[in-house]
Amino acid sequence: MIWQTSVGKKLLMALTGILMLLFLVGHTLGNLSFYWGADALNAYAEHLRALGPLLWIERLIMAGVLVLHVALGITLFWENSQAKPVRYAKSRYQEAGPASRTMFYTGLVILAFVVYHLLHFTVRVTNPAIYEAASGEGHFGVYRMAEMSFQSPWISLIYLAAMAAVLIHLSHGVGSFFQSVGWNTDWTKAWVNTGSYVLAGILFATLVSIPAAFCLFGM
Ligand code: HEM
Repeated sequence: MIWQTSVGKKLLMALTGILMLLFLVGHTLGNLSFYWGADALNAYAEHLRALGPLLWIERLIMAGVLVLHVALGITLFWENSQAKPVRYAKSRYQEAGPASRTMFYTGLVILAFVVYHLLHFTVRVTNPAIYEAASGEGHFGVYRMAEMSFQSPWISLIYLAAMAAVLIHLSHGVGSFFQSVGWNTDWTKAWVNTGSYVLAGILFATLVSIPAAFCLFGM
């Protein structure tokens, strides 16, 4: 079975990782409608809900992808920690960058954030006073909910810290994908590394700008 070998696990890790990256790129593009104001963002949220069963199929697929990615990550971390130490002329620890060495921990921070984020914006249980204020006659104001949430420096700081973890995780994760699927040659390595940093940086700046704009300027 593919997931019983280390190579197979890394391949599945790469494929599930890239699917989540595609989701995040789509989510970030959708979130840009914050900058077109409350009507645009609320209309975007309504369009998503109007997808009905399709939205639920996408949610179930993404939930499965997330569970698989996390389970494989924990298994690989455990197997690596059990592996016999091998002496290298230059230790592997020195060769691996900080992002690579902390993948497991940044992954845990992102997982904790996703749980919090779903409870905050989708299940809506963390801030009852805010949900009440955002509920209008027959509609719910997603924009108002975000606006009131991010006016709290604590909530904005949680989002900032989580986006920093996303930045670090992706800056190594995208390169790892190319390595695991065998597309990392000496020639592509530099391009892939630079591309990973640029993509992670763009996603970080775009996502962080939303809580920052509400928190610092009231948007
Ligand atoms: C500052 C950054 C972010 C902002 C402002 C933001 C904003 C939002 C908003 C407003 C919703 C609710 C949409 C609605 O109710 O229609 C939402 C849902 C969601 N967000 Fe985010 N998000 C951010 C970062 C992230 C990140 C980094 C991830 C994943 C790692 C993520 C994953 C999700 C998921 C899975 C949902 C639920 C989608 C669904 O209902 O099917 N978000 N986000």
